[in-house]
Amino acid sequence: MSTLSPEVQEQLASLAAKYAADGQDLASFLEGLHRTEYITYWDYVQLDTLLTLQKPRTAYPDEPIFIMYHQITELYFKLSRHELEPLVDAAVPATLEELVRRVNRVNRYFHALATSFGVMADGMEREQFLKFRLALIPASGFQSAQYRFLEFASTRLEHLVQLEHRAALMEQGADPQVLLDHVYWRQGATLEETGEKTLTLRQFEAKYGETFRTTALRWRGNTLWDLVQNLSDEDRQNPELVQALRGLDHQINVDWPLQHYRTAVKYLAKKPSDAPATGGTNWQRYLPPRFQKRIFFPEMWSEQEQEEWGKKWVDQQLASLDPQA
Ligand code: HEM
Repeated sequence: MSTLSPEVQEQLASLAAKYAADGQDLASFLEGLHRTEYITYWDYVQLDTLLTLQKPRTAYPDEPIFIMYHQITELYFKLSRHELEPLVDAAVPATLEELVRRVNRVNRYFHALATSFGVMADGMEREQFLKFRLALIPASGFQSAQYRFLEFASTRLEHLVQLEHRAALMEQGADPQVLLDHVYWRQGATLEETGEKTLTLRQFEAKYGETFRTTALRWRGNTLWDLVQNLSDEDRQNPELVQALRGLDHQINVDWPLQHYRTAVKYLAKKPSDAPATGGTNWQRYLPPRFQKRIFFPEMWSEQEQEEWGKKWVDQQLASLDPQA
C-alpha cells in the first residue's frame, strides 16, 4: 500500500479537525466521497434542463429564436442583478473600488446585450414574427420583473417617475407609494383616455406588485444613486467612477432601449398604421428614450445632454427608415 504524502496527511488532519468540531466522523464523509460520482459538465450547468426550457406556442421555425434570446437576456439581467443587489442590500461595503468594479461588470453585460440585439432585429423572418406574436398576446417583455429590479436598484424612485410628473413630485417630496403609483411603466401601460390599465399591466402587478413595493421600500435610501451620494466629494468625482456611472446610464437607458426600439420599429411599423404591441402600450411614444428620459444619475449629465437624451440616434434611424407595409 502506498504511503500518503505529507500534503495529503495534512489535509486529512485538517478535515478530521473540521468534522470533529461539528461532532462528525471523517471516515463516514470519506466513505461518502468514495461513493460520489465525478461531476460532469452537463450536470453542473444543468444542460438537459436548460435545453428543454424552450416551449414555442406555434410551429413557426423562428419562434424558438425569439424565446431563446429573451432567455439569454434574462440571464444577463440576472448577472447584472448579481452585481448590484449585494451593494444595495448592504451585503458588501460600497467602497469606491467596489462600485467601479461592479458597475463596470454590469456595463459589460449590457454592452453584450445591446450589440447582440441583431439576433432579434435581423435574425428572424418578419412574416413569421408577425404571425407567431399573435399567439403571445397579452405577454410582453414589458413584464420582465428583472428589468424593473435593475432600475429600482440603480436609482431613487423619484428618477423613475413618469417625466410629466417627475419634477412636481420631487419638489413636493412625495411619499414613496405616490412615487410608485407614478412610475413611468405603470403610466405607460395605462390608457390615457379611460385611465384603464392594460391587461399586461394588471397581470404584471398581480404577480409582482407587492414584491416591487417591498423591495423598492427596502432599498430606499440605499440605491446605487444613494451610495454614490454617500461617498466623499473626492471619491464621487473619481474619473473611473464617473465613467462607469455614465456608462451604466447610457447602456441601460439609451443603448439597449434604442436597439430594442429599433427592432420594434422594424417589425411593427407599417403604413398606413403601425401594428399594436402585444402589451398594448402606445409603443411609438413609450419606447424611445427621448420621450421617457429615464436617467439614473442626472447630476452626471449636462442640461443639454439630458434635454437631448437618446435623440441623436433616433433621428438618424428615423431618417433612414422606409417601412414596407
Ligand atoms: C422582435 C423583438 C421585440 C419586439 C418587437 C418588442 C416589442 C416591445 C414593445 C412594443 C414593448 C412595449 C410594451 C408593449 O406594449 O408590449 C416592449 C417592451 C419591453 N420589451 Fe420588448 N420587444 C422585442 C424583444 C424583446 C427582448 C428580446 C427583450 C428581452 C428581455 C425585451 C424586453 C422588453 C422590456 C424589458 C420591455 C419594457 C421596456 C420599458 O418599459 O421601457 N423585448 N417590447
